[in-house]
Order: sequence, then structure tokens, then C-alpha cells
Amino acid sequence: MTLAQSGKLRILVTGRDGQVGSELVRSMGSLGELKSTNRAELDLTSDEAIAAVVRAFKPDLIVNAAAYTAVDKAESEPELARRINHDAVATLAAEAKSVGAAVIHYSTDYVFDGAKTSPYTEDDVTHPLSVYGKTKLAGEQVLAAAGIPYLVLRTSWVYGATGKNFLLTILRLAQQKPELRIVADQTGAPTWSRDIAEATAAIAAKWLPGRANSGVFHLTACGSTTWHGFASQAIRLLSEAHPDQHEKLARLIPISTAEYPTAAVRPKNSQLDCSKLAAAFHCRLPKWDDSLAKVMEEYELAHQAAANRG
Ligand SMILES: NC(=O)c1ccc[n+]([C@@H]2O[C@H](COP(=O)([O-])OP(=O)(O)OC[C@H]3O[C@@H](n4cnc5c(N)ncnc54)[C@H](OP(=O)(O)O)[C@@H]3O)[C@@H](O)[C@H]2O)c1
Repeated sequence: MTLAQSGKLRILVTGRDGQVGSELVRSMGSLGELKSTNRAELDLTSDEAIAAVVRAFKPDLIVNAAAYTAVDKAESEPELARRINHDAVATLAAEAKSVGAAVIHYSTDYVFDGAKTSPYTEDDVTHPLSVYGKTKLAGEQVLAAAGIPYLVLRTSWVYGATGKNFLLTILRLAQQKPELRIVADQTGAPTWSRDIAEATAAIAAKWLPGRANSGVFHLTACGSTTWHGFASQAIRLLSEAHPDQHEKLARLIPISTAEYPTAAVRPKNSQLDCSKLAAAFHCRLPKWDDSLAKVMEEYELAHQAAANRG
């Protein structure tokens, strides 16, 4: 029996104020009774809070979209990053076991070192370069060892029309500065938070939770680009929507990773091969630039609405 066939599901979604979590609230509702929590309602640094929420709600499925995601800051806050990305996952998994719940959890392309020149499969050796990547990998491993049905969905370069993300930063800066220098030698798949959430709902509906059907799956948009390619396409769409502003938008200068030092080292190649997910769940995300076009439409609508409000 799939999760969806097993009756009215009780689903707990954490990280409701995040990019993926906020979209999960829209996409998972049709599968059953949904309870979602933000940091104020469930602080993942508190084992007592995790236990209290899980034991009170008794979910059939926990979707953990909360995480420590500040990749550069994690280099100076490794303990906090590990507390949220590993320890809290261990506690969530233990509590899930006590109530018989399955867990869907997200991870990242940053578990790889990026040295491979083709897309990474789930069987490729992990070798995270950053504290964030290490703590996310530790979270995957503790979930896999917990003895419960689980899915780890590794995604990459998450963005959307709301939240804190690269796209919104670029759109803001491009309207303020004459030029922007953007890294052009890291390759990956920008992935819309809504595509992730809708795929998660589709996967959950088809999933036969059991240890044999548990595992790691790659879940990113189709195709790939660089940060510079992503930004260029976004600015192209912005200038098509506002031809009068075309001249005022920043010029994008491609630069190398070495020219943009950051606290955390990022993989050069972040491409993830998603064919395992396609075979298991008949699920493939749209191409990254098709989704970007939809997100830009939402961005425009949100800005028009804000302008109309004065
Ligand atoms: N963002 C990316 O580019 C990216 C790439 C690959 C994989 N992923 C993975 O995808 C998943 C979803 O990421 P996202 O982009 O949606 O992240 P996000 O927008 O940063 O959201 C993460 C959420 O976790 C919450 N959180 C942080 N610490 C918490 C705590 N102690 N207790 C409870 N909640 C806490 C945050 O709360 P506040 O809102 O209060 O801060 C935030 O709402 C994560 O597992 C992430 O590692 C993300």
C-alpha cells in the first residue's frame, strides 16, 4: 500500500517559513491532515520540543524542510550547523520511530566535492568541502541508520519568488549597481522551491514506505548552467518585462571562483543525475530555465501588487 492509499495521512512539515517548507504547505495539503511548524513553534535545537510536537501530533509522515542553510556562516558556526543538520535529524528520526512515522528529508549537492566532470549519481562517493556539506551528509547518514522508512532528496541551488536566495539578490543588485561580477565556473541546476515541493507530494503519494524502498534520491531541475548563466537569464527576463529599464540594469561580468573568495568552498560541478528518481517515481522536474520564467512572472506580479499598494 502506498502512503496515500493508507488512509488519511497525518503529515508534519518542519521549516514552514523556509523556501521549500512554505511551498510544502501548499503542495502536501491534499495528501492528508497537515501540521506545519516554524522555528518559533518547533526549534530543532531542542530535543524536548521535537519530542513534544511529534508525540502530540503522531504523524504518519514527517517532511523535514528545516535546516541550517547559511553555507558561509556555517564555517564559523559548525556546532550550531551540526546541531540542526545532524543532531536534530537524529532526534526527529528517533521520535518518528517511536510513533511509526516515515521521514522525507532534504540534502544537498554540497555533499560532493565537484571534481567529477559529469553529473553525480547517488552511488558516487561523497566528499563535502564545507562545514554545511559535512553536516548535511551527517544528517543523511544518521537518518539512514535510524531503522525507519525514509527518503533523502538531494537538491541544489534552491530559489523562488520569495525567501532569501541568489535570484532575488541578483534582481535587487542589478537595479542598484552598474555591474555585477558573477561566478561562471561552478555548474549546477537552479531548482525552484515549488518544483521541489510538488515533486515531494507526488513522490509521497506513490511511495510504499518500507526499509527496502528507502534511500537517497537526486531531485533537481533538468539541465544545468553556471551562476553567471542563471543571473544572465534572470536579467534577460527582467529587461524583457521592463524594456524601458534595460539600459539601467547592471552589466554582468563572468568571473572565476578564485576571484570571489568565500568562507565555504563550493563544488565546481554540482550537477546531480536524477534518473534514479525518474525510474522509481516517474518524476522529473522541469528544465531550470522554464521554471525561472514562471518564477519571474510571479516576481513581476508581486512587484506590481506592491507598487499598486503604494
Ligand atoms: N537553499 C539552497 O540553495 C539549498 C540547496 C540544496 C539543498 N538545500 C536543502 O533543502 C532544504 C530546504 O532548504 P531551503 O532553501 O528551503 O532553506 P531555507 O529557506 O533557509 O529554510 C530553512 C528553514 O529552516 C528553519 N530553521 C533554521 N534553524 C532552525 C531551527 N533551529 N529550528 C527550526 N527551524 C529552523 C529556518 O527558520 P527561519 O526562517 O526562522 O530562519 C528556515 O525557515 C534544506 O534541507 C537544505 O539544506 C537547500
